[in-house]
Amino acid sequence: MNHICGSRYICVDDFKLEEDGRVLDSGAGSGVWIQGLAKTVPNTVQVFGTDISSNNFPETLPANVHMSIASSTSLPQEWSNKFNFVHQRFLLIALRRKQWTEALSEIFRVLKPGGAVQVVESSPSMSKGPAMEEAYRLLKEFFDRVGLFVDVAENVDKLLGAVGFEDVKVVTGQLPVGKKWGSSGEQGTRALKPGFHKMASPMLAMGLINSESEYLQMLDKMEAEWDEHGVHFLPRLVTGRKPL
Ligand SMILES: C[S@@+](CC[C@H](N)C(=O)[O-])C[C@H]1O[C@@H](n2cnc3c(N)ncnc32)[C@H](O)[C@@H]1O
Repeated sequence: MNHICGSRYICVDDFKLEEDGRVLDSGAGSGVWIQGLAKTVPNTVQVFGTDISSNNFPETLPANVHMSIASSTSLPQEWSNKFNFVHQRFLLIALRRKQWTEALSEIFRVLKPGGAVQVVESSPSMSKGPAMEEAYRLLKEFFDRVGLFVDVAENVDKLLGAVGFEDVKVVTGQLPVGKKWGSSGEQGTRALKPGFHKMASPMLAMGLINSESEYLQMLDKMEAEWDEHGVHFLPRLVTGRKPL
């Protein structure tokens, strides 16, 4: 959660997790968030993680941490009103546009009245040079064609309100990218650039680019622009409460 609310895992004002609390991470991937959280809460708190695939699940987990396969758009029926806190992060390339409302409605359903939600997403838009603009234009075109929600980060607050959450708040972080910001900017580049690289094959298959090598050259120019100007990637943390 760095760059948004320091080293805290739960960033909802006035939220207190009770010793018998239940937490869910929807679309948990390798479980990095739940495992980190589990180290900071009493082991009486039950921590759950779900993902559509178990490929990245760790082999061993603490006794109070449980991972299972489930789509964020269709959580187990018996989980209605069972959780005190639900976290969902970085599902930008996992959920199609209409699935966002389904996933956030599922979070609403499984939360207890008064429970809190925390969603973290990032917008890929950073335009301070021609290569950056071209990379974003291609990404947006790709997302639109496959039905992904490219600017979902800027819309999560409205979507949460629409499915019934109240007290919705947005905090925007700043992840430095590019050598201009020193080692933290270089770390930002290392975190971000591989995501652009991975898009080469699907973009070629879709006919959006002429060749992978041309695309990779454009990404190198984009990195040079990051280094020269320094940019910030803007992760957004959006929180809300299920009404009592
Ligand atoms: C970029 S990873 C983020 C993982 C984790 N939230 C994190 O922050 O480390 C995206 C995850 O979404 C999962 N995913 C894709 N479609 C999903 C769905 N419909 N329901 C739940 N998880 C899904 C993928 O398997 C992958 O683990």
